[in-house]
Formats: sequence, structure tokens, C-alpha cells
Amino acid sequence: MQRVILVTGGTGGLGGAVVRAFLDQGSVVVATYRRRSGFDSLVAQIREDGALTGVSAVDRLHGVEVDLSDRSSVRAAVADSEARFGGIDALVLAAGGFSGGATVEETDDEVLDRMIEMNLRSAFVCAGEAMAALARRRGSIVAVASRSAVEPGAGVGAYAASKAALVALIRSIAAEGITRGVRANAVLPGTIATAANLDGSDASAHPDWVRPVDLAAVIRYLASDDARALNGAAVPV
Ligand SMILES: NC(=O)c1ccc[n+]([C@@H]2O[C@H](COP(=O)([O-])OP(=O)(O)OC[C@H]3O[C@@H](n4cnc5c(N)ncnc54)[C@H](OP(=O)(O)O)[C@@H]3O)[C@@H](O)[C@H]2O)c1
Repeated sequence: MQRVILVTGGTGGLGGAVVRAFLDQGSVVVATYRRRSGFDSLVAQIREDGALTGVSAVDRLHGVEVDLSDRSSVRAAVADSEARFGGIDALVLAAGGFSGGATVEETDDEVLDRMIEMNLRSAFVCAGEAMAALARRRGSIVAVASRSAVEPGAGVGAYAASKAALVALIRSIAAEGITRGVRANAVLPGTIATAANLDGSDASAHPDWVRPVDLAAVIRYLASDDARALNGAAVPV
């Protein structure tokens, strides 16, 4: 049976690599986006790759407009994915955001609320809304947290706390999912060598940054049955 993977933030720097990793495996991928232009350019890139390799994966890629801060929008996307593709085998929580450079004393409420909204609340709502569908397919959740969740430093208080809370959330879901056959794990990347972070520089200049393609391979593994012994893990990458 063809696996169906729901990827939040599928149009982001990491999300695009995650989408490709699952398409390469032959899965159907439903990628969420807020801005249609981001999804259109992802489709164009994958179409270009297909033209080069002679393989068209783009037919298995579907986009859905979702505001992850809106529960009804998330609920509709989950229901639509399950109805159209027959189920959901994995949920990859790749949406999120960063803010840094200010001490806790300097950080205002807007930044704190945004970090909690993007990194914790969106994952909480998505996982909750997808749980029943995942249980029907004995599926799994993989969340993209951050190394800052376990090694927080100065100037990233709101971000690190939101990602630490995400790891705690994943561990609760892992405990709750055991009886329903649903696993949940997190990855803890340091800096990712996305185009935005590289800003024109070469990845070889940053050997300590994880490449999106390598991180996506770990995420794909965690979502696979080969990783069935892993539940509640927070994997440094
Ligand atoms: N980049 C790094 O160095 C790094 C390091 C550690 C962890 N991480 C984590 O890795 C993940 C991916 O990072 P990235 O660099 O790929 O980020 P990115 O390029 O900024 O992409 C973020 C994605 O999340 C989506 N998104 C954010 N808020 C949303 C909302 N409310 N509703 C719907 N979609 C929303 C964005 O959609 P739109 O573009 O349409 O807004 C975008 O597709 C994030 O969780 C990030 O915290 C990143």
C-alpha cells in the first residue's frame, strides 16, 4: 500500500527536502503551505528534477493551504488528506520559526507568543487533530525540534523554551500512542544548511551544519517501520 505523509511547513528550507525524501521513496506527500507561491516554486523545482532524472514524482505531491494557528483549518486539512488518499501514515512537523539575539529580560511578549505559537501550539494542534487518522494506520509522528531544546544558550530563551516544550509534547504523545500503535519522535538539529542560512556561502564552509537532505533521511527513517523500536526519542542530528 502506498504510504501517505503529511508534512507541515513543506515549503520551508528543510520542509522541501523532507517532501523530496518521501517522494523519492514512492510515498504520496501532502505538504501544507500558507503562501501558494512557496508551494508553486517547490512543485517547479521537483518538476525540474524529474525532467533531469526522467522520473516524475510531482504527481504524488499535493499542497494544502493551512494556517497552523487555526485549529479548524488543521482539522479540515487532516480530514481532506484522509478522505482523498485513504489514510495518513506519518505526520512530519517541520513548520516552525526562530527568534534570537535578545535576553529574556529584553524579549517582549510578541516574540514569546510567536515562538510558542509557531513551535509548540502548531505541533500540539496538528498532532492532536491527526492522532485518530494515524492510529487507523498505526502511523507515526516526527517533530523537528532543535538542539537548543536540550542545550539552551544565551539570547534564545523564547525559542529554546518553545522547542523544549515541543520535545516534552512529543514524549507525552509517545506515551499516549503506545496503546494505539502510534509512535512519536523528535529530531534536534543544530544549524541546518538551508539556503537561507547559507546566504550564498558554500555548505563546505560549515561542516558542523546538517544538510537538509541528510536530516530529511533521518526523518524518513524515524517515520518508517524500520524505526519501530524508537518511541519518545529526541535524536541529535
Ligand atoms: N534553519 C535552522 O537552522 C534550524 C535549526 C534547528 C531547528 N530548525 C527547525 O526546523 C524547522 C524548519 O526550519 P526551516 O529553516 O526550514 O524554516 P523555514 O524555511 O522558515 O520554513 C518554515 C515553514 O513553516 C511554515 N509555517 C510557519 N508558521 C506557519 C503557520 N502558522 N501556518 C502554516 N505554516 C507555517 C512556513 O510556511 P510559509 O513560508 O508559507 O510561511 C514554512 O513552510 C523549524 O521547525 C525550525 O524551527 C531550523
